[in-house]
Amino acid sequence: MPKVVILGQKEFDVRPGTNLLKLIQENRYDDQLPATCGGQGQCSTCAVRVLKGGGAPNQNELEVLGEDQIAQGWRLSCQIAVTDDIEVEVPGYEVAEAIQIEPGLIRDVLAYAADRIQELPSTQKITVKRLKDLSNRAEALVEGGGDPNDFAVLYAVFSYLAHDHKAREIPTQFELTDEKIEKILEAFAKRLPAEEEEIITYPYFLYVAFTILFLLTAGLGIYSLFRDAPLEEPATPSFTPNPEKAPWYFVGIQELLAISPNIGPFTSVAIGGVIAPTVFVLLLMAIPYIEPYVEFWRKDKSKPVGRRLRDRPVTTALFTLLIGTVIALIIIGQYFRGPQWEWVIPWQ
Ligand code: FES
Repeated sequence: MPKVVILGQKEFDVRPGTNLLKLIQENRYDDQLPATCGGQGQCSTCAVRVLKGGGAPNQNELEVLGEDQIAQGWRLSCQIAVTDDIEVEVPGYEVAEAIQIEPGLIRDVLAYAADRIQELPSTQKITVKRLKDLSNRAEALVEGGGDPNDFAVLYAVFSYLAHDHKAREIPTQFELTDEKIEKILEAFAKRLPAEEEEIITYPYFLYVAFTILFLLTAGLGIYSLFRDAPLEEPATPSFTPNPEKAPWYFVGIQELLAISPNIGPFTSVAIGGVIAPTVFVLLLMAIPYIEPYVEFWRKDKSKPVGRRLRDRPVTTALFTLLIGTVIALIIIGQYFRGPQWEWVIPWQ
């Protein structure tokens, strides 16, 4: 019979073909592995580190975990049928010993963070209520209980402390130094969700998308039964309306053409019809690269935070300016231009 060793915990002799996730779950460790996708190999919340055995990873594991994680020994326990001896480390067990963190310290840190909720990274949707909930479960958390999202919040809070060297500012009777925070972060990092904020396309996203699509189509269908399309009379070659306006979504370009000057060798048509729209699109494409994210989410700076307005003021201002210009041009062309494309006041 193959032997399963859960590092530092237990050993089991199991029947060949036993599913590793089921075995772990049946032996009281299920809170460590939430198995969000129900064992379909799509969510990665059941990931464990395999230290010995386990065979070759399958396609699901390759896709969900990626080569880097697999090279570090991570595997999806739901995808492993045990056929030979295997040794695994279930993330979380070692948290308490590795960090020797006291529940009281967690509570003090969370209370400090709750007072500075506006300064915390927004990625994990940290709220005062969430911090209080974690504080109430501090004992369980230091023993490794709690799901990866709990640890993502704790990681975010401690990253914030580490980034600004705030260790000494925290009112607590427990020892807390920058070095200890680093150790704590290392321990929490082992419990983070393998894929952050992952939403499985099927069924969660597709259900929502198709429900909205269905309701929208049905709503438009019902509306069209009661309302005729606002079509004008058939066009005749002998009559050209003045002004001749493009559909609303192009009328901004039409307005741009009308106001563009001739500059040097470039005609107003070249400027308004080609150069300005091209510069506009290039600027939009450049936006993600113009301003680096605020980088204190991870030590390796690979996971940025900074989705809030104040984290990226230049980017936000530029985007608002570009989109505001487009909307203004459309409104002017649509409502404020009359015969000969002259200015008109629509309500006069
Ligand atoms: S339970 Fe989702 S990948 Fe294993």
